Amino acid sequence: MSYQGLEKKRQFKLQCFSCKSEYNLDDYGKFYHCTKCGNLLEVKRLRQSPAEFESKLPGIWKYFDLIPLWNKENIVSLFEGDTSLFECKNLGRQLGLKTLYVKFEGLNPTGSFKDRGMTVGVSKAKELGYKRTMCASTGNTSASLAAYAAKAGIPCIVLVPKGKIAMGKMAQAIAYGAEIFQVDGNFDDSLRVASEICERDNTTLLLNSLNPFRIEGQKTVSFEIVEQLCGKFPDSVILPVGNGGNISAVWKGFSEMFEIGLDRLFQTRLAGEKLPRLIGVQAEGAAPIARAFESGLKDRIDPVLSPHTEASAINIGSPVSWMKALGAIYESGGASYAVSDDEIFAAQRVLASTEGLFVEPASATPIAFLAKCAKEKPVEYASLEDSTVVCICTGNGLKDPNALLKGVTPDQIQTISADATSLERILA
Ligand code: F0G
Repeated sequence: MSYQGLEKKRQFKLQCFSCKSEYNLDDYGKFYHCTKCGNLLEVKRLRQSPAEFESKLPGIWKYFDLIPLWNKENIVSLFEGDTSLFECKNLGRQLGLKTLYVKFEGLNPTGSFKDRGMTVGVSKAKELGYKRTMCASTGNTSASLAAYAAKAGIPCIVLVPKGKIAMGKMAQAIAYGAEIFQVDGNFDDSLRVASEICERDNTTLLLNSLNPFRIEGQKTVSFEIVEQLCGKFPDSVILPVGNGGNISAVWKGFSEMFEIGLDRLFQTRLAGEKLPRLIGVQAEGAAPIARAFESGLKDRIDPVLSPHTEASAINIGSPVSWMKALGAIYESGGASYAVSDDEIFAAQRVLASTEGLFVEPASATPIAFLAKCAKEKPVEYASLEDSTVVCICTGNGLKDPNALLKGVTPDQIQTISADATSLERILA
């Protein structure tokens, strides 16, 4: 390893999220959980030395200093990240919000936020010499892993719950050349199978979001939001929650920026800057984290045994990263709520028809929550009205057109004869 690689390695450690036992980062994959208490692991950056942005590296890799990869030659990138932050004035006005932004993660190379994590996960698989990669997925993770594994030339196996993933996502995994298996069960069953296999086979790296390298990539969305707001934190960030990995990554990103100091990174004043509140939104039929928050639970959740939502990406009853997700919610002074499938579909249409942003159903949950708030005006609404709110819309609507087209048949769309006058008569 190069001298710079060795130097960089000294700046990071792997530790248990719960009991803080420490491990060598390069041993990750020989085990996936703390060998002492069984909880999830996380990466910590030791020395909060000033980080430099490397604008010549592709995608999220401009934050190379803050990402635990030792050698730049191992980067496997498809130019992920750098997604647009849209100011949504039309929708904001409709919902009575002063400043509403959407960070549209559907603009990533495979159409979801997963690419941020997967570029790091697959680069690490390459750096550590893994022969194979694997994941279980509700669709987006499989599409993303398949793409990055193809780019790296590392075989990948994906497990998906039979009949429960959007066809666009399945088509992606097929096109990118993944070896796909449908599991006769739900996502939680698929992840259990994938985990067991990877725990027994040290040549295959599991790339679900319990993998802390994925989280290190996903945290970059927070860096970008702060950069795009010219060095300011938003007041609230609202995002969908499934397995709980992404909300913990977003919190890690904001917290790391806070520790390093925005003044150092952006030459802005830190005075008065406060970390944002994170609001995690789930679908009613798969909402163990929202229910835990509602009951004030801090140290456990009650899994949903048969989760059901049409927002298939977040149809998860037993989120593996629940502890990290609840940590992010409570530490940020945030919250977690559930919305119905009808509210999700209405929000998906409203965002598309007012702002021109077509997101997949799971990604519309933050908007569904805001629309519900605007209607019911709970206490929560007051804190959102006059503040800067960022919704992270995690995936592209084109992945799952069937969800939107449900109930719409071609004969409901007017047919006209092929001459201009007949249409002019209708439009008059
Ligand atoms: N939004 C989308 C579009 C997703 O695909 C997912 C998760 C989430 C939100 C939730 O993120 O799990 O980190 O809380 N999709 C995973 C998958 C589970 O397999 O593609 P989370």
